[in-house]
Amino acid sequence: MSRTIIISNRLPVQLKINNGNLSAEPSVGGLATGLKSVHREGNGLWIGWTGLTEEDTPKAMEGEIDQALAELNCAKVVLNAEEIDGFYFGFSNRTVWPLFHYFLEYSEFELDFWEAYKRVNQKFADAILEVATDDDIIWVHDYQLMLVPQMVKEKRPNATIGFFLHIPFPSFEIFRTMPWREEVLDGLLGADLLGFHTYDYERHFLSSVRRLKGLEVSFNEIYLENRVIKVDSFPMGIDYKKFHNAAKDSATLSGKDRTDLQIKLDEHKKAAPNTKLIISIDRLDYSKGIAARIKAFEYFLIKNPEYKEKVRLIILAVPSRSNVPQYQLLKKEIDELIGRINGELSTVNWTPIWYFYRSLPFENLIDLYTKCDIAWLTPLRDGMNLVAKEFVACRTDQSGVLILSEMAGSAYEMNEALLINPNNFEEQAAALKEAINMPLEEQKNRNKLLQQRLERYNVEFWANEFMTALKDQQNDENVYVSQKVNDTILNEFSNAYKAANKRLLFLDYDGTLAGFHKDPQKASPDEELYELLDQLHNQENTELFLISGRDKETFTKWFLPKKYNMIVEHGVWISRNGEPFKLLEQVKGEWMEKIRPVLESFVDRTPGSFIEEKNYSLAWHYRNTDPDFGEKRATQLNTVLTSLIGNDDISVLNGNKVMEVKSSNVNKGRASVRMYGEADYDFVFAIGDDWTDEFMFQELPDSAITVKVGPKKTHAKYHVEGTKKVREVLKRFI
Ligand code: ADP
Ligand code: G6P
Repeated sequence: MSRTIIISNRLPVQLKINNGNLSAEPSVGGLATGLKSVHREGNGLWIGWTGLTEEDTPKAMEGEIDQALAELNCAKVVLNAEEIDGFYFGFSNRTVWPLFHYFLEYSEFELDFWEAYKRVNQKFADAILEVATDDDIIWVHDYQLMLVPQMVKEKRPNATIGFFLHIPFPSFEIFRTMPWREEVLDGLLGADLLGFHTYDYERHFLSSVRRLKGLEVSFNEIYLENRVIKVDSFPMGIDYKKFHNAAKDSATLSGKDRTDLQIKLDEHKKAAPNTKLIISIDRLDYSKGIAARIKAFEYFLIKNPEYKEKVRLIILAVPSRSNVPQYQLLKKEIDELIGRINGELSTVNWTPIWYFYRSLPFENLIDLYTKCDIAWLTPLRDGMNLVAKEFVACRTDQSGVLILSEMAGSAYEMNEALLINPNNFEEQAAALKEAINMPLEEQKNRNKLLQQRLERYNVEFWANEFMTALKDQQNDENVYVSQKVNDTILNEFSNAYKAANKRLLFLDYDGTLAGFHKDPQKASPDEELYELLDQLHNQENTELFLISGRDKETFTKWFLPKKYNMIVEHGVWISRNGEPFKLLEQVKGEWMEKIRPVLESFVDRTPGSFIEEKNYSLAWHYRNTDPDFGEKRATQLNTVLTSLIGNDDISVLNGNKVMEVKSSNVNKGRASVRMYGEADYDFVFAIGDDWTDEFMFQELPDSAITVKVGPKKTHAKYHVEGTKKVREVLKRFI
């Protein structure tokens, strides 16, 4: 039976050994807390690091450790102190973490860190390879393991591998500064599906792939030589029920049954009923903007002295990565800031900031989420931020206000929160004021909407969406798999060709017989091509058709004197034996007047793009635009056109850097099948490079030899790499 194997640096538990006794604590951090619920439900396995070093683990306790982990369906990867230094504290947290969170100045590019990262990633990959079968689904998590997908794929080409990045993927301008940027991309490209929290991270990644690897990217797919990789955004949710129910349960506790923290918070509320409690919970990390938040709080109190003694900020900072110098400095900075502000602003009855530097048990986390009035979360950059979602889930009476940084991934889904720019103190002070004074009714309205969304898009939903996309991706590939043309296949082609009595050939032009050119008019045939086509055209019992989306005027100029058979504009016009073009299909063209202005507006806004006007279709070319920008515009145009068209008479074809609007009843498939029906052909061959050719590949009979120029994902039976190879194939027919 197939299993899901989760692999991440952190396991859901952290093991500790005290005086020879083994104990386990839940891990903190979004990845572990979120995935825990997903893992609990399934029959899977979770592979990761226990938090112990090899040196700290007595050999005699190995069995006990394995047993404890096995009970949680977990297995360990053992790391020694040196590996943890270079891989975890080094490359992961002194190179990647700061860089991906836009703290370029903190990022250290040390060769030793990189070497350790590679070694340890290989260790994780080996741990997977040891236990996984081809039926299993392998789900690799986060920035510590970016090389693992490729390391596994290399040894197990048939493995199904998903990868999810829990932190931001930075813009190309940032990512390109990393010396090992291509190796990192290669590592990630071993996956079949890559997931990010937001569309922005996804497009940053695709942009780096396009620019650094020069790979073809179409919408959210990356075309490799032998596979297609899908990239998508899946905003991670929380275990909504767990938090909501825990909050409900905690509300029922009374008297002595309450936790110590609850008692303390209740006492505070009783003593100062009009005071608002503001909570902020994060790992102690510079990306969380804790120091700036404290300064913003000071700014708020100085600017609005009437709130002194009326608000209190509770800061819970969970110790994290304390061997990394930046984290030590931050700890010091925060200690000093809080000390100074409390020293300067406290009164006999009031301390503005309560500060906890520790990891609290789950029940206390719930106490804070439920007893405080406002959650104030101001990361300077955060992949998602689950704390924001947990706070809202715990507001069982729908009271409470969330102030959230717009730099957190979760801000995309939490529009009803008060969204702020963490660098803007003025705005933060205004948001605090608004939160303190927000009428209960408004709080409820906002939280109601947020809760509805969080309840639906919970962590289970997130994992299911990812898994379904991963499985689809595999199935999709099976449908579309084509064989690469090699020498044996070439021989088969030419034997079949020679043995045939009546042959029919369909050859696409752009991207197949000739390469692309910035100006389509300049992509005219060269002498070698004319010679090749002449020879094919002159063969006995052979009907050769050039089949193209081009306009008939260009093909008349280039090929009519040669008397080749031609089908142009995707099947609107036909010419045989040097006769002028005739209509092959009756098509309507009234829609063009309505669509032309839309395309013109896109030309105006997209430098380098232009419209090609054909008799019965309009094409928007964007080959000469900035690649990223062009793709973005193409996606927008597709959306606009699909919503405008809304009927079956017109359709949009997404070609290779061209988007064409044309009548639906015309396509190369329909045209080629018509030609096929005219005689008794026993050898049919079609070759082409883009989506418009897929119609031929799909509609021609099964016996046809269909060849895609470019990636493997196609309805054609075979694929070749480029135009040079196309000519090699055709020469075998002469
Ligand atoms: P990050 O992943 O960067 O740490 P998130 O906000 O996404 O940030 O996730 C933090 C997770 O850690 C949350 O699920 C939260 O419940 C948990 N957590 C935060 N503080 C504590 C704490 N003091 N004790 C236990 N768990 C905590
Ligand atoms: C973030 C990362 C996780 C990491 C967590 C805690 O959520 O995305 O991969 O586990 O922080 O950090 P730590 O370094 O303690 O694992």
